[in-house]
Amino acid sequence: MKRIAVMTSGGDSPGMNAAIRAVVRTAMNYDIEVYGVRQAYTGLINGDFELLTSVEVSGILQRGGTILQTARNEEFKTTQGQKRGLRRLNEQGIQGLVIVGGNGSLTGALALHRMGFPVIGVPGSIDNDIFGTDMAIGVDSAMNVILEALDRLRDTASSHQRAFLIEVMGRNCGYLALTGGILGGAEIVVTPERPPTMEEVAAALEDAYVRGKSHAIAVIAEGAPYRATDLEKFLQQNQNIGFEIRLTILGHTQRGGSPTAFDRLLATRMGVKAVEFLRDGQSGVMVGLSGREMKAVPLEEAISKLRPISESYFENGQVSVTLTHSS
Ligand code: F6P
Repeated sequence: MKRIAVMTSGGDSPGMNAAIRAVVRTAMNYDIEVYGVRQAYTGLINGDFELLTSVEVSGILQRGGTILQTARNEEFKTTQGQKRGLRRLNEQGIQGLVIVGGNGSLTGALALHRMGFPVIGVPGSIDNDIFGTDMAIGVDSAMNVILEALDRLRDTASSHQRAFLIEVMGRNCGYLALTGGILGGAEIVVTPERPPTMEEVAAALEDAYVRGKSHAIAVIAEGAPYRATDLEKFLQQNQNIGFEIRLTILGHTQRGGSPTAFDRLLATRMGVKAVEFLRDGQSGVMVGLSGREMKAVPLEEAISKLRPISESYFENGQVSVTLTHSS
């Protein structure tokens, strides 16, 4: 193997640059050239490749976002788009590809593998919804942004005797909301997996008021059956919970910023492993963290379902935070 490519795809996540850097540096150690594909599958289809050397990847380990940029591409979902991408790779003499991204990106990776092209997936998404890995790149950094926001919002909530509704990301998965709620001391958490009713949220917030707390926090996952804005309307129109209510949607702030130590390490280990898997002749697998080890997880398995939140997290939430009522 003399020449490979790397790309980042789907929603960016902190640590993607560390993964690119690890791929380039590891490949260089084996005398393998690395090309970066700009803007994910869009760049693949258009043949937008750049040679990456140690110079291009120096000073990027601590940077958020992705130097290769990313995109969500519709054309690559078609057979024609996939063939065009494959043709570009062959034109460049590329013999293997590392794709860092979430479920949609890994589905594209599987398509290329099925066309006979060697591909390794690396899980990158703040949602932590990728099956087959304990953690994906970016989750820990996003969680830390959420915790900082929760701590700041609690300060102002206490000063004004307010209840805050805080919406966090997670399109189909409540991992960030649940762990954010547990670690940030929320009264109640609304996840897509186990959503309390709006009445239950009202009861939990009111309970905090009645018990004499100076503030209350509800964390709502964006993928929950109702949005935080709906909840705000409901509480304002139908309930008197005691506290004044304020709403904060953390949005894309959760995706930006320098990766944490955990994400830098995870991304580095995964990038190194991806190149080693390619060199070993593997394809159609994702690098997955299992306990302390990196494992090869078949892409079919990784995209077959969403990673479920461990039952113990819900149990923890019930005891230490509460999913339906305040402790
Ligand atoms: O998958 C990561 C994620 O940040 C989700 O939590 C969110 O729903 C989505 O991406 C937002 O996508 P976009 O940046 O395209 O608006």
